Amino acid sequence: MLLELEDLEVRYGAIPALKGIGLEIAQGEIVTLLGANGAGKTTTLRSISGLHHPTRGRIVFDGTDIATMAPHDVMALGVSHSPEGRRIFGRMSVMENLEMGAYRRRGAIRKDLDRVFELFPVLGERKRQPGGTLSGGEQQMLAIGRALMSEPRLLLLDEPSMGLAPLIVREIFSIIRQIRETGTTILLVEQNATQALRLADRGYVLENGAIVMADEARRLLQDPRVREAYLGEAAAPST
Ligand SMILES: Nc1ncnc2c1ncn2[C@@H]1O[C@H](COP(=O)(O)OP(=O)(O)O)[C@@H](O)[C@H]1O
Ligand SMILES: [Mg+2]
Repeated sequence: MLLELEDLEVRYGAIPALKGIGLEIAQGEIVTLLGANGAGKTTTLRSISGLHHPTRGRIVFDGTDIATMAPHDVMALGVSHSPEGRRIFGRMSVMENLEMGAYRRRGAIRKDLDRVFELFPVLGERKRQPGGTLSGGEQQMLAIGRALMSEPRLLLLDEPSMGLAPLIVREIFSIIRQIRETGTTILLVEQNATQALRLADRGYVLENGAIVMADEARRLLQDPRVREAYLGEAAAPST
């Protein structure tokens, strides 16, 4: 496994946000983590990135327990995080935003920039523009592009479709598919459960800080409980 979470507990003060979760991702997979607001999805990603340290359990990345590591050390090992709400630097240019993602290897970023501009041609067209002048969809592309600048082996995406129009959401999901095709493993947190499950190989459902379902994505798409709770469909009447 490229990433394994074992019995992971994370607290905010006395309140447990993750109550001993387990999750694993193999090299090359897209795994999606679904759940309602407040379920603990962002906390899971922030823990993997080293932004929160667990009170119990292990986070093993490629054989190394990273649970107590600092964020820049986790990033240096090959984990990159595109955060919820995008968090781009609005006054800095598109180019400067991308360079921030590569801050550990300032010398040799040309080929990473080329890869980002190939995936997101619009960022190449707007590279001198301040990030804050981009549309919501373009800002999301910039957030993902910035995360790719550190050449991650594992890319964490926190709600990349949030607040975007359906056409742009489709474009973002198609780019996520292309990123995986270049060999990057992806953990995708989404509220847009239908599209996430269509894209992913496997999925986990998080409720109140606990994993309540784990299965192949195509099976979760068919599961009546998932359909009712996360795909916005009424349960079939029992006869
Ligand atoms: N910085 C924080 N301080 C205190 N509680 C927090 C903090 N961040 C998140 N929480 C709580 O932890 C739980 C999980 O939050 P979060 O991981 O953001 O969920 P999700 O991303 O699934 O919406 C929620 O109950 C939330 O209110
Ligand atoms: Mg969240």
